[in-house]
Amino acid sequence: MKFFLDTAIIDEIRDANATGLLDGVTTNPSLIKKSGRDFFEVIAEIAAEVDGPVSAETVAADHETMLKEGLKCAKIADNIAVKVPLTIDGLKTCKALRAEGIMVNVTLCFSANQALLAAKAGATFISPFVGRHDDVGFDGMDLIADIRQIYDNYEFDTEILVASVRHPVHVLQSAQIGADVATFPHSVMQKLAAHPLTDKGLAAFEKDWADTGFSILD
Ligand code: E4P
Repeated sequence: MKFFLDTAIIDEIRDANATGLLDGVTTNPSLIKKSGRDFFEVIAEIAAEVDGPVSAETVAADHETMLKEGLKCAKIADNIAVKVPLTIDGLKTCKALRAEGIMVNVTLCFSANQALLAAKAGATFISPFVGRHDDVGFDGMDLIADIRQIYDNYEFDTEILVASVRHPVHVLQSAQIGADVATFPHSVMQKLAAHPLTDKGLAAFEKDWADTGFSILD
């Protein structure tokens, strides 16, 4: 499963990229606002930092304007995936951008039928939002399982990009279901590596090693 970071904060991206485990980045208008930076400047910087796809989201509601925005975003770098909403206008835009060979991430997906439409529109990625789904009393992971089944039934190559990930269990369940990508905040990436028994074991080994007086390097 690929790991994308869900942020527009360049220091977080550099930190995650240094692990060698980062496969891409997703942004949205709220994350751009949180970065406090100019949209084009920050997207260009992220795209230069990361080898994989970098999602840049359109904001227009109508197809014509959305397409113009998407074409402009795609010019920022070769690894831009244009993000469009899961609306009829967004699906039209997806189809048009894909015809130009541009990667498209269809976002704000909350149902398996929506995901089916995105795949039929040729989306590179579909972004179902699991955390926001959980927030309103559904199980977001059921949605991921449904989409996996449908995409496998028809051999769609649209990648399931699990979004709105709030905690490590979302990542675990995404991997169990066979999602292609999970995008999560920097804080979740830190939590994936953390375990109190690892810390406790490390502290005990450090103490015992110090007691031996040995050194590996000297
Ligand atoms: C990413 O593509 C989504 O925009 C993002 O994961 C949404 O996350 P949130 O529900 O935590 O805002």
